[in-house]
Amino acid sequence: MNKSVMVIMLVCIVLLSGCKQQATNVYSPDGDISLSFSTDNDGKLLYEIKVKDSLFVSPSAMGLVEKSGLSLSDGLEIENVDFNSADDTWTQPWGENKAIRNKYNEMAVLLSDGSTVGLTVRFRVFDDGVGFRYEYDVRNVDSLFITDELTEFNIANDGVSWSIPASFETYELLYRTLPISGIDNANTPMTFKCGSVYASIHEAALTDFPEMTLKHTDGCHFKAELAPWPDGVKARIAGGKFVTPWRTIQIGGKAVDLINSSLILNLNEPCKLETTDWIRPMKYIGIWWGMHLGVETWYDGKRHGATTANAKRYIDFAAANNIDAVVYEGWNKGWENWGGSQEFDYTVPYDDFDIKEIAEYARKKGVKIIGHHETGGNVLNYERQLDNAYKWYSDMGINCVKTGYAGGLPDGNNHHGQFNVRHYRKVVETAAKYRTTLDVHEPIKDTGIRRTYPNMMTREGARGMEWNAWSDGNPPSHHVMLPFTRLLSGPMDYTPGIFDITYERIKNSPDRKQWNMKDSKDCRVNTTLAKQIANWVILYSPLQMASDMIENYEEHPAFQFFRDFDPDCDWSKALEGEPGEYVVIVRKAKDRYFLGAATDEESREVEIGLDFLEPGRVYDAVIYADAEDSDWETNPAAYRIMNRKVSYEDKLRIKMARGGGQAVYFRPIE
Ligand code: NOJ
Ligand code: CA
Repeated sequence: MNKSVMVIMLVCIVLLSGCKQQATNVYSPDGDISLSFSTDNDGKLLYEIKVKDSLFVSPSAMGLVEKSGLSLSDGLEIENVDFNSADDTWTQPWGENKAIRNKYNEMAVLLSDGSTVGLTVRFRVFDDGVGFRYEYDVRNVDSLFITDELTEFNIANDGVSWSIPASFETYELLYRTLPISGIDNANTPMTFKCGSVYASIHEAALTDFPEMTLKHTDGCHFKAELAPWPDGVKARIAGGKFVTPWRTIQIGGKAVDLINSSLILNLNEPCKLETTDWIRPMKYIGIWWGMHLGVETWYDGKRHGATTANAKRYIDFAAANNIDAVVYEGWNKGWENWGGSQEFDYTVPYDDFDIKEIAEYARKKGVKIIGHHETGGNVLNYERQLDNAYKWYSDMGINCVKTGYAGGLPDGNNHHGQFNVRHYRKVVETAAKYRTTLDVHEPIKDTGIRRTYPNMMTREGARGMEWNAWSDGNPPSHHVMLPFTRLLSGPMDYTPGIFDITYERIKNSPDRKQWNMKDSKDCRVNTTLAKQIANWVILYSPLQMASDMIENYEEHPAFQFFRDFDPDCDWSKALEGEPGEYVVIVRKAKDRYFLGAATDEESREVEIGLDFLEPGRVYDAVIYADAEDSDWETNPAAYRIMNRKVSYEDKLRIKMARGGGQAVYFRPIE
């Protein structure tokens, strides 16, 4: 134990004389954040947080409620308080940053009701925020039925917030910028700013519990609201010993501090896989966008997308363009019933998709295939075939799978309750057994389990590109909101990179079946071309897709960025930005750097110091910028490519059009 922790221990256990109230507290290593825990006269549990001595989270309740009346949150007294600290650096096989510093002070408060219930509330206070979880030890019970979580987040002052509404079925919702006091409910990460402090509430290490959403109570106060089972119970626990996910509050002085924080990963368990050399980031393309635009179909027939000939055409393009992998959707039987019985068969391809021949062709060309399992929400059908399906793919050398859950779940279960959290976990473990990596669509929210299972590489879990094909689409602010909200939880498979922004090539296609969600002929992507390129850098995914049909990349000079792009970065930093307004992020991969900048509906100019480059080296910078007259609404396809020689002493002026952006590739000159 270091000296500062001992001092904290000595000065912070305050036993208030004459009553049962007890309080104890702990500081972040830099001393800026302090957290104090107390019990009141009824033995109720409370915590509060100060940032730089100002109240940030006012006294907030803690604990769980159990169906049979067992008291898991009151009548408890502090028996012991343990302090600890850590400062170590661990590495991961891939990630925004491969080396991560884990530095915190910990306070573990052991409480008891004197007979049945033992509870350790474990707090970890980092320089970039706070995490706490409940570790219960309830004696003499076979099972517990958790009916509520009492955890409150009573934000001390009003401010501005950025979030999506709470839903136990979907995260594919539009973001709202609201006063904190004006939110009815929200899903996490919920990001907010109070005075000069930015923060985001989320959770870490969700492994066998329902997801937590936030419900407004009064003022700027929120309470945890867990996704229920069909009978209303929130969590079913076997035996009496269990640990909840961490409740987290990331805290920073700048909005980009939240992006640069590794708090969520630090609160997850270390890697459980014996080997990870088979897990590697990849760039990919796929037979995908044509189906969303309605010019191809997932089911077989005359417009079928996943045919053997088409599959080989995509493999050829990948091989010729330095792209690692190709995904094929609509290759297996069952799509004809999508939205109906949802009985997909994961080992029976359509007759016009010769998977053995395609796999062999890909192998010869050095291209990986990303398999696809759409479940339509029928997880029981999927689980019946799970082991066999992953083995079947793996035997053909297909060791990366995109999954999907577009449709309702069986028996009244919802997508985000404990039932499905368990299912998603089972899939990760089965995939790992076959050394297979995952890209999950319609997932459970990311809570950092990629640290424990690095084969769980990327997921959707927000409105991705597909929404631009058949709805009003994602507004220009969406892509500069995601890094400060959804992406705080982990990578996202947004699938950026549409070059035919207004769908000119297919607009008048006689084959096009219009989706009925909206008059699809008005649909489009709501950015400039340069911003599409920038999103490959900004919207971090270790499996990064160039999502357009390859016809739109052939001969396009700006596609060179994707050829050069390395998805296997070693280090990243968000340099500047404000939620929903703009963002600038740089990533380093080996000795190269990739920078992405993007703005909302406003045109913007920012100046960025290049001091992240290695001193003493000169770099060739290839700049993919908006043209002088670019505008996401009226002239989205205009762009220019410029070359500059730069070093770490230089500055870069980034000029972005309305709804625009910029991407830069820095290559050292030997
Ligand atoms: C929704 C996914 O997000 C999308 O990528 C996929 O194409 C469809 N489901 C069909 O599986
Ligand atoms: Ca989706």
